[in-house]
Amino acid sequence: MRQYRVRGGRRLSGELCVGGAKNAALPILAAMCLNESENEIHNCPPIADIFATIEILESIGCKVVFEGTTLKVDSSRALSHEIPDEIVGKMRSSILFMGAMLGRLGKVNIAMPGGCNLGERALDLHQTGLEAMGATISLKDGKYYCSAKELKGAEICLHTPSVGATENLMLAAVKAKGKTVIKNAACEPEIVNLAEFLQGMGAQINGAGTGTITITGVEKLNSGKSNGKPFSIMPDRIVAGTYLVAAAMTKGMVTLRNVRPVDIAPITAMLVEMGCHIHFGKNCITLAAPERLKALPRLVTGVHPGFPTDMQAQFVAALSIAKGTSTVTETIFDSRHAHTSDLNNMGADIKLSTDHRIFTISGKKILHGGTVEAQDLRGGAALILAGLVAEGETVVRNACYVERGYVEIEKDLAQLGADIILE
Ligand code: EPU
Repeated sequence: MRQYRVRGGRRLSGELCVGGAKNAALPILAAMCLNESENEIHNCPPIADIFATIEILESIGCKVVFEGTTLKVDSSRALSHEIPDEIVGKMRSSILFMGAMLGRLGKVNIAMPGGCNLGERALDLHQTGLEAMGATISLKDGKYYCSAKELKGAEICLHTPSVGATENLMLAAVKAKGKTVIKNAACEPEIVNLAEFLQGMGAQINGAGTGTITITGVEKLNSGKSNGKPFSIMPDRIVAGTYLVAAAMTKGMVTLRNVRPVDIAPITAMLVEMGCHIHFGKNCITLAAPERLKALPRLVTGVHPGFPTDMQAQFVAALSIAKGTSTVTETIFDSRHAHTSDLNNMGADIKLSTDHRIFTISGKKILHGGTVEAQDLRGGAALILAGLVAEGETVVRNACYVERGYVEIEKDLAQLGADIILE
């Protein structure tokens, strides 16, 4: 089992280039099934969830070549509708092959997906939305059996703006007959990136990035290259946010390149409130940290453009050493708090409400090192951040969780001056 060994106490400084976004790349890989063609994308992050998705693509008959951050997927061969259970169980986003394969083959058998344990992660919207488009879906022994003679456009109103359900329905709708309208759709930048990729293939999509997305089905899609130029995955706003928090916690000064300031505005707004100075350039951000961060009286996670739940754990780590008392409310997931007990073991003072949604954090001057365990991706990143400022040495076990979403985080942080190794 790999682990990170971190010695705290170094101020981070210097420059880093942020890679492509996991949560944008994953649905785009699923979209590649749809066009029966050769696809090529750039800036695809070489991380565990992408490798698992490549395994799914290969298992259903796609030819895949992944070199550096360039990914080529040929989906022209007849595809199998059986997705192997063991790969599906590795991550949540496997469920996107439900919409994509219904769109491509009109048939798919796929197990319940795995993914980080963040509480109940319902799939009702995926199922009811696809059923509204004409699919028949039954769940037997933990596996979905899905088929559709013909997918038809439908008007679908989501009871919550689920990112995954919005993506799944978009994937199913691009080749469905007629018009699909998704109301109360998720507005995250990754949805816009998926729409742009699909539009490049000839899909008719309007309104991505707003609460109403309209998709008019087309019969055939093309290879997705506009003017011969391959699509480039958007920069990862959560990786960027994580490194900005690392700089903020270590009293550092860091410049990140290949970021889109507008995507991370909900994150930088909170860092400014905590006393950081931020300078925005074109596709780059510089953060200069104060000697001590200030507490946030009210940090509430929300759907985009609210504060992203994927940055909650990293901010909880930062607020653990801020001056004053902070309150953090997690509104998206009902059980995203595994990091708090390990942070407390490192000397933080975080109290949870009985429903585990509200964290009251009394900032401490000092955290101390110890052996802690990542229990999910962002929680693991938060423990590494705490290790950067803790006295002594911190070992973060279960590196595999962190590797699902960060490309060699230890190398990036070491490049900024941190004392961290993966062993
Ligand atoms: N929900 C329902 N019914 C559904 C689907 C979702 O009630 O059919 C609820 C869930 O139970 C949850 C909430 O809606 O409480 C949000 O879930 P959503 O579907 O939006 O999340 P997701 O698609 O499973 C993606 C990201 C997550 C990120 C969330 C929220 C990917 C691969 N994953 O998950 O990323 O936290 O959106 O922004 O895009 C991460 O990267 O660490 C991560 C967990």
